[in-house]
Amino acid sequence: MFRAARPFIFRLDAERAHWLTVHALANAPWAAGWAADPVDDPVTLMGLRFRNRVGLAAGMDKDGIALEGWQRLGFGFAEIGTVTPRAQPGNPKPRIFRDVGSEAIINRLGFNNGGVDACVQRVARHRAKGMLVGINIGRNKDTSPEQAVDDYRYGFEAVYPVADYITINISSPNTPGLRDLQAEAALDGLLGALADTRARLADAKSVHRPVLLKIAPDLDDAGIRSAAAIALKHGIDGFIATNTTIARPPGLSAKVSGEAGGLSGPPLAEKARHVLRTLRAECGTSVPLIGVGGIDSPEAAKARIADGADLLQLYTGLVYHGPGLVSRLARAVSTS
Ligand SMILES: Cc1cc2nc3c(=O)[nH]c(=O)nc-3n(C[C@H](O)[C@H](O)[C@H](O)COP(=O)(O)O)c2cc1C
Repeated sequence: MFRAARPFIFRLDAERAHWLTVHALANAPWAAGWAADPVDDPVTLMGLRFRNRVGLAAGMDKDGIALEGWQRLGFGFAEIGTVTPRAQPGNPKPRIFRDVGSEAIINRLGFNNGGVDACVQRVARHRAKGMLVGINIGRNKDTSPEQAVDDYRYGFEAVYPVADYITINISSPNTPGLRDLQAEAALDGLLGALADTRARLADAKSVHRPVLLKIAPDLDDAGIRSAAAIALKHGIDGFIATNTTIARPPGLSAKVSGEAGGLSGPPLAEKARHVLRTLRAECGTSVPLIGVGGIDSPEAAKARIADGADLLQLYTGLVYHGPGLVSRLARAVSTS
């Protein structure tokens, strides 16, 4: 079915196709049922029970409008966001580009979103329905780097009551200066501040929320290790490896590879796997890791688990292979 529909979907501009898909799922979530053969392979991690190991990666549903749809598609969990304190339009269009030959995407959306507070209200309404929802937070484009910590603190406090887990995003390439937060001193400052906020909220609300750090595939090994050490020192529970890359590996079409932005899909896979393996070696076996980046087949999913991932996420694979991929992957890495 998806194979038959794909040429028509791909005739649309990439952002238009994305908008239509997410809004269709939001307005008719029950219709997603036809595509799904949901896999029940419960995994308990960070005190949370995931229905299976395959989750939706951040960015597909930034505002959390289609939570029921993702659940019906068979995802074990969904990460929404990135959301910022204030709503913002993102970068000028066009800003999403498909490279069909390599099944990759380059995007420079720039955190277009409706603001964290609206997102929180939506998630609060969905909470009873049983899908695990992580919320990924970032900073506004027009917030100065000196004020970045305040944006993260605002987002953290807003999502804390409703998010099953919280992801700190310091790795998107499309907000100028954001990735500078991965440098030692800046990361130490940010995560130290958030650790204080977290302790206060955990006390006040009598609930502990797992916190994950999402990192870039463009860090060198020393950078990965130091980010991991700083994060663990501040009580971060686990890592998401990785965000999109600013590199342009061979194999991309000349037309698309010249576009500015973050690259996702199979050409990202090797870098994402390297970061994941480096984190696993650095953190030992007990720290939860989510593998993401170019996972598009059962073999790729199994390889990512062998690299050390506890859970997987996907975005670009869904665009090229359709919703049936979710359960194919979940079945491939099922323990039961
Ligand atoms: C169009 C698009 C938008 C994205 N937006 C976000 C975002 O807002 N926050 C984030 O942390 N990651 C974002 N990502 C990165 C994905 O969550 C994921 O880390 C990356 O695409 C690699 O996975 P994939 O190869 O399965 O797509 C985005 C990716 C794409 C393609």
